[in-house]
Amino acid sequence: MSSVLVTGGAGRLGRSVVAGLAAAGYTVASVDRETAAGMPAGVTQVAADLLVAGEARRIIDAHRPDAVIHLAAIAVPFSAPEEVILATNTALAYAVLRAATDAGVRRIVTASSPTVLGYGSPAGWRPDRLPLDERTEPRPWNAYALSKLVAEQTARMFAAERGGQLRYAAFRPCFVISPEEWRGAPTQQGHTVRERLDDPSLAAPALFNYVDARDVAEFLDLLLQKMDSIPNGETFFVGAADALARRPLSELLPLFVPGTAEAAAGLTGTSPAFSIAKAERLLGWVPRRSWRTELVETVPREEPGLVPASPVQQEIR
Ligand SMILES: NC(=O)c1ccc[n+]([C@@H]2O[C@H](COP(=O)([O-])OP(=O)(O)OC[C@H]3O[C@@H](n4cnc5c(N)ncnc54)[C@H](O)[C@@H]3O)[C@@H](O)[C@H]2O)c1
Repeated sequence: MSSVLVTGGAGRLGRSVVAGLAAAGYTVASVDRETAAGMPAGVTQVAADLLVAGEARRIIDAHRPDAVIHLAAIAVPFSAPEEVILATNTALAYAVLRAATDAGVRRIVTASSPTVLGYGSPAGWRPDRLPLDERTEPRPWNAYALSKLVAEQTARMFAAERGGQLRYAAFRPCFVISPEEWRGAPTQQGHTVRERLDDPSLAAPALFNYVDARDVAEFLDLLLQKMDSIPNGETFFVGAADALARRPLSELLPLFVPGTAEAAAGLTGTSPAFSIAKAERLLGWVPRRSWRTELVETVPREEPGLVPASPVQQEIR
């Protein structure tokens, strides 16, 4: 049986990743400053601060996992001073990936974010083309997005340093929705999924992206299985197959992101702004869940009036 150590395993995404990998048959250890209630039987929880020098290596040596998935971070832009977010997230990524590398862990994965692309920039942001994909140039405009780009580059750096048998990857999960959030618990931004759907100005800053946390767990399972046979140091978008919107993005995006009408013209029907074709091509991963199935909403709702907003700069994901 394969073993995996998940940092940040007590978090919003981490809990579903831990549960999903445990259900898939992995032996899972979660390392987090917090411990989470309701973890599946057999999951080991280690309470530790991974910023303390030597902790990551000590814990990895104690567990000797086949894989490390690094999720621990300050996960919300502007939730701490910019220099704290940058220092914390880059130091965590370096410490965990360095320790896993030095311990000879064969598969090492780090969480990034779609925000690396830079949408919502106060200076203006306009995509060259839509949907966005892994070839879209990252242009981070805040410390959180920059820290995630550094995390991706940290994985690439270690792939370049070690390469060979040690395999690295980064992934950019879209706005994560955990199982309880489909049932009305507040999302990371404080509002509910239903409110986010009913008021497009809430999802617009993230370009209407989202992903079910359990689909991320399934992505990670496939990634761990296939890392030996794909190029080293790859980055993947991990999102739902549709947009978190009741109207086509060809209509919505130009209202909220000025200058996108032409690029968004092809985003008809339920098409999302982020392509997940690379994950399907290289890993065979497709998300199984959509707000249309998970929100259990069968009665068509009346559309609220659409009020174009100025480009929103704070809530981005
Ligand atoms: N939630 C999203 O929508 C989303 C989207 C894109 C990327 N991400 C990324 O995914 C990862 C997980 O996000 P999340 O939403 O679950 O965040 P979260 O805040 O719910 O969980 C992060 C966890 O990391 C732990 N942690 C932070 N600093 C630590 C330290 N020094 N030592 C040990 N543990 C520490 C926290 O205790 C927390 O449980 C993050 O890297 C985040 O940037 C999340």
